Amino acid sequence: MASEQTVHMNGGQGDTSYARNSSLQNADQNRMRPLIEEAIADLLSASASMPRSMVVADLGCSSGPNALALVSIAVDAIRGQCFRSRQPPLEVCVFLNDLPDNDFNMVMKSLVAFQQGHRSVVTGVIPGSFYGRLFTTGSLHLACSANSLHWLSEAPEELRRNKIPAYDIDEHVRRGRRRVVIGAYARQFRKDFKLFLELRAKELVAGGRLVVSLAGRRSEEPAAEFTHAWESVVINKSKV
Ligand SMILES: C[S@@+](CC[C@H](N)C(=O)[O-])C[C@H]1O[C@@H](n2cnc3c(N)ncnc32)[C@H](O)[C@@H]1O
Repeated sequence: MASEQTVHMNGGQGDTSYARNSSLQNADQNRMRPLIEEAIADLLSASASMPRSMVVADLGCSSGPNALALVSIAVDAIRGQCFRSRQPPLEVCVFLNDLPDNDFNMVMKSLVAFQQGHRSVVTGVIPGSFYGRLFTTGSLHLACSANSLHWLSEAPEELRRNKIPAYDIDEHVRRGRRRVVIGAYARQFRKDFKLFLELRAKELVAGGRLVVSLAGRRSEEPAAEFTHAWESVVINKSKV
């Protein structure tokens, strides 16, 4: 798929890199902390006996400090939960996922440093689209994703077929087609998000959790301010 091969955040640590231009997204990740902590607490308290290991993943990790932000919260929460229940630390497998053109060189260096600071954690990267299978069946305890699920698998077919861009620079044409464009993108989002949920439902263990956050708009006006309508979505596999 063309978008998977060509579109990516700026890698490295230069002035225009994602690593140095993602503090807003990081603030959003920090808002997910209580949800991730709650998901871990529920997961561990729901198990009849403490599992021996857990698998956690961030889907659409990008590179730079944000790549590790959500999994760090999860690992700290697991460690805290073990400590409180006087259990030895669980082994945790941390996976970071993004599209193949992501700066995985940088991600892997961050993972090595992370692993050095966290004994009983092993790490890995999973390159590929989260609109396809990434993990084996029933193997994942917690999947997180921040600021990524608004990236669709493709532009809506009906718009591509009619050569209608998402944003026409001619304001008159743009306004005339606004309903059509918004409707097509909304349908594409629904289709992609449903697929994403179906895939993760296969990959999560029974009772596994999915915590996602993405920006949305309440208004149909493209220039209107972003809101975080989907900020607090936590999905428990046993209830879907
Ligand atoms: C804005 S960045 C968010 C990075 C990080 N999660 C954060 O909150 O700062 C969106 C990331 O999603 C990734 N992405 C987009 N579509 C994807 C897909 N289908 N599968 C995996 N990753 C995807 C992009 O490559 C990009 O790195």
